[in-house]
Amino acid sequence: MTMIRRRWGGARSAVSVAAAGLLAAAAIPVLAHQAAAADTLGSAAAAKGRYFGTAVAASHLGESAYAGTLDREFTAVTPENEMKWDATESTRGTFTFGAADQIVSHAQAHSMKIRGHTLVWHSQLPSWVSGLSASDLRTAMNNHITQVMQHYKGKIYAWDVVNEAFQDGGSGARRSSPFQDKLGNGFIEEAFRTARSVDPNAKLCYNDYNTDGINAKSNAVYNMVKDFKSRGVPIDCVGFQSHFNSASPVPSDYQANLQRFADLGVDVQITELDIEGSGTAQATNYANVVKACLAVSRCTGITVWGITDKYSWRSSGTPLLFDSNYTKKPAYDAVLSTLGGSGSGGGGGGGGTGATCSVSYAKTQEWSDRFNGQVTVTAGSAPISGWTVTVTVTPPQKISATWNGSPTWDSSGNVMTMRPNGNGSLAAGASTSFGFTVMKNGNSAAPAIGACTAS
Ligand code: XIL
Repeated sequence: MTMIRRRWGGARSAVSVAAAGLLAAAAIPVLAHQAAAADTLGSAAAAKGRYFGTAVAASHLGESAYAGTLDREFTAVTPENEMKWDATESTRGTFTFGAADQIVSHAQAHSMKIRGHTLVWHSQLPSWVSGLSASDLRTAMNNHITQVMQHYKGKIYAWDVVNEAFQDGGSGARRSSPFQDKLGNGFIEEAFRTARSVDPNAKLCYNDYNTDGINAKSNAVYNMVKDFKSRGVPIDCVGFQSHFNSASPVPSDYQANLQRFADLGVDVQITELDIEGSGTAQATNYANVVKACLAVSRCTGITVWGITDKYSWRSSGTPLLFDSNYTKKPAYDAVLSTLGGSGSGGGGGGGGTGATCSVSYAKTQEWSDRFNGQVTVTAGSAPISGWTVTVTVTPPQKISATWNGSPTWDSSGNVMTMRPNGNGSLAAGASTSFGFTVMKNGNSAAPAIGACTAS
């Protein structure tokens, strides 16, 4: 599906055209109804204005339970290995994108965001790179960034431009790597500058582990980001891998750490979450991570590092939300209810009581081949933190553009589920609107607007 994104201005004549009372169908009030909380990770996160992603391996996409769980629950993907240097340029100058392309196509077909992972990293780096001289390495690094980003230009929400460039422990020093050792401290800045010039619309992230709490390593990353922001070096986000286990537990200052980075003027994202364990203990840890992200307004999304324990890189630690049979674990229920959703067990609900909303529809503009529609969402007598509305068009009509919302689509492409795009929180009685363009293809019927669900 190709979506043309338009700015709000697209519906500027809304009031006058609606006031002209064009067609009987032009204003359809839909009754408020009681909130039914979202029942998937992705929809619950979307109601909070965030994505919920997972690492994906192309080799498993053919497994129906794997793809089915992915498509049902997740709104973002990160290729687990397929975009790394050893996968994309194992031989100098020869680029291989087949496996990563499979993931990207799948994600696009399901309107999922894509995190690009990763361009410059000491690991999974072909040996030819480490053998280069400094000047040759600089050329190779910039070429690698350029070729890979160019191939996916316009398709990537955020790139992990540089991964894991700092040492563990108390030194706060850079990690030894071919890039660090030959190009010196400036290699990160150079990588980010090159990345910005190739795809200015992708968010550019620095990504690392053991930086989840406040410690010497995260301080060093913090100082680098602060320096970049002060000097205008392009950086948009910091990724916190968040691989946790008993030796590396969820830090108590996790939220404070995310917040201090956000306060530098970057988005923060939880990029590779997995937490070893089982049962309630694992569930509580997951809930705490989700709470921390929800408490930081610039925490834009959470990605778990795999769907099922079966294929986890740390499989023996059973660190994910679905067991090896794709059954939801207590950790899944905890994440869903912390996101404000509620699962089949009905465990969650948390905080959604009394949240209702109503919708009204107006056709705001019409041309011979298309019309613009606008849906206004109004909170009931209690404030709401999220809303969901479906818009169903009559084939062969197609929605060709949307604005002021985050759409997902059913497999037919006729049913669009719209969720907030930063406009999920409404005071009691307050309204927001989203809009869309319907290509008539010979049929000018008004779309059916479903009831509004609030959280
Ligand atoms: C891991 C993958 O999950 C494994 O399949 C692979 O063998 C090694 O890499 N930090 C990262 C990820 O940034 O790319 C790593 O992924 C996990 C640690």
